[in-house]
Amino acid sequence: MPTVTLIVNGASRAVDAWDPEMPLLYALRNDMGLHAAKFGCGLGQCGACMLLVDDAPARSCTVRLKDAAGRRVVTAEGLGSPERPHPVQAALIAEQAAQCGYCTNGMVMSTVALLRGTPRPSREEAQRRLEIALIDRPDQPPLGAGEAASSPVPAALANAVFDATGMRLRSVPFSSDKLKSLLA
Ligand code: FES
Repeated sequence: MPTVTLIVNGASRAVDAWDPEMPLLYALRNDMGLHAAKFGCGLGQCGACMLLVDDAPARSCTVRLKDAAGRRVVTAEGLGSPERPHPVQAALIAEQAAQCGYCTNGMVMSTVALLRGTPRPSREEAQRRLEIALIDRPDQPPLGAGEAASSPVPAALANAVFDATGMRLRSVPFSSDKLKSLLA
């Protein structure tokens, strides 16, 4: 069977290319045992599968395995360890910022990518770049780390609406009235 070779977290990894068209996310999770990147929407919208490809943020559900050949891939596992977390990981832990935890990977990887290119971003720049995974959930109390996983669906829907209209929904529930007032 042909293989696809890529550099994952600094090490060369050869993956059986039984389907070179499959998303890189599947190869990471199923073939390499790297589970930090999550499957959320599978449509490039929610950011749960975010990682770095050649230092740029990429949604691994939309990157084909064959297109990652020879490229440098960094997942959250490659940033730090439980004993020595990356400063961004350490900051989220210190602030108990995980919420349900499902989008944490997207927040971490997007923040790392932002800070690599812009070490001192303005508040507006940071908000714009990190909005992918930030949805306020006034329907839930802020339980902090350990909260049961909810769903990447709100972020995916908000990003789909943003892509289509340029307007951003920022809190659930996404009612038709809220959508109408956004578009008015
Ligand atoms: S699972 Fe990739 S963006 Fe949602």
